[in-house]
Amino acid sequence: MIVVGVSGGIAAYKTPALIRRLRQAGHEVRVIPTEAALKFVGAATLEAVSGAPAISDVFGAEPGSNHVELARTADLVVVAPATADLIARYAAGMANDLLTATLLGVKAPVVLAPAMHSAMLEHPATQANLAALRQRDVIVLESPSGALTSGDTGPGRMMEPEQIATMVLELLGSGPANRPPPKSPASTAKPQAETGPTDSTWAGHRVLVSAGGTREPLDPVRYLGNTSSGKQGLAIAVAAAGRGATVTLVGANLKLDVPDGIALVPVSTALEMSNAMAPRAATADLIVMAAAVADFRPAAVAANKIKRDGHGGFSLELVANPDILAALVEARRPGQVIIGFAAETGDRDASALEHAAAKARRKGTDLTVANDVSGGAIFGQDSTRVVLLDKVGQIVGQAEGSKSAVAEAILDAVRAMVVG
Ligand code: CTP
Repeated sequence: MIVVGVSGGIAAYKTPALIRRLRQAGHEVRVIPTEAALKFVGAATLEAVSGAPAISDVFGAEPGSNHVELARTADLVVVAPATADLIARYAAGMANDLLTATLLGVKAPVVLAPAMHSAMLEHPATQANLAALRQRDVIVLESPSGALTSGDTGPGRMMEPEQIATMVLELLGSGPANRPPPKSPASTAKPQAETGPTDSTWAGHRVLVSAGGTREPLDPVRYLGNTSSGKQGLAIAVAAAGRGATVTLVGANLKLDVPDGIALVPVSTALEMSNAMAPRAATADLIVMAAAVADFRPAAVAANKIKRDGHGGFSLELVANPDILAALVEARRPGQVIIGFAAETGDRDASALEHAAAKARRKGTDLTVANDVSGGAIFGQDSTRVVLLDKVGQIVGQAEGSKSAVAEAILDAVRAMVVG
């Protein structure tokens, strides 16, 4: 059973769409609006879409749906929208209505979809409350930028109900990830005690992997891209799923079969990848940034195919893409492990490995998977050779062979780092 909390913001009018989507996926939903929420969305609407009473007051709750019972039986609680006031009351441990009283008793995952004016979101009090809740493993979704009800533009919009539903269903394992986990191709190559589905250290852990090469459109048919196939990222996703982890793969332009059991989020551009990674990172225990992300994109995308006529040649203006890995490291929650890749070529100044070691120190990742791609080696191939570097650029492992075998070696290094 999913508890959907609703607090009093204008975005509450979108919450019925979230409830409907969760019920369509086969979940029982109990909705708990705050009193203020009922000024934005009627109890009759919430009751009709959820199929259950919508009660705000602790004293109004019927037997079997008081805060203790709801907290005990919830598989997940999602609060959408979560206003500054609700966030403050939750962070302070208050219990002055049915929603906050329920939140205090919940052991299941809690997801907040904050929505408010940018100034309120950016206020140090709200930021401190959100940081405190994140520390307590509450999952705080992004509040995208855009037009706000006040007429201003900025961060603070509620994530779209469809996206919230996708996140919730992924968390509950009733999204695409609910399919049976794939067999790790390399799991037979190693003793069962070390790897494969019997490795209980991975069960219940969430792994988020990016793979493939982003494409930055120039016009409707052309793009700036790279030769990454996504094979190494996919091999890591498969290996982690084979060990029992719950795996989400954000795949940029993959032309590979992704086995059932891995939740694939297809993307194309760096911006799309950034938008797909950021909210999912909030729930991940391990993040592997294996994708080859374009650092720059064309400043403008031509609406029509760019014609040769009249062009003796032309210059392209590029603007910087976000550094996804840097943002993930910045938002890292305690205990989360983040792995970056460094595909380097040697030059006059330093060897490929020296460049990779410098990147390992610069990026703040826990592990850097370095490979030498001089002459285009490795991209798209079935086998590879990597050096694993820790956060100070020291070599902590090496692996060579199939991309599956290398994936297992990377996961072994993570396991050694976490378990010791
Ligand atoms: N990466 C990222 N976002 C970008 C560029 C790269 O998240 N816009 C990630 C890659 O997925 C990889 C790591 O950063 O895990 C290193 O990528 P790489 O292209 O080797 O390095 P850059 O960060 O782009 O640094 P530089 O180009 O200066 O070597």
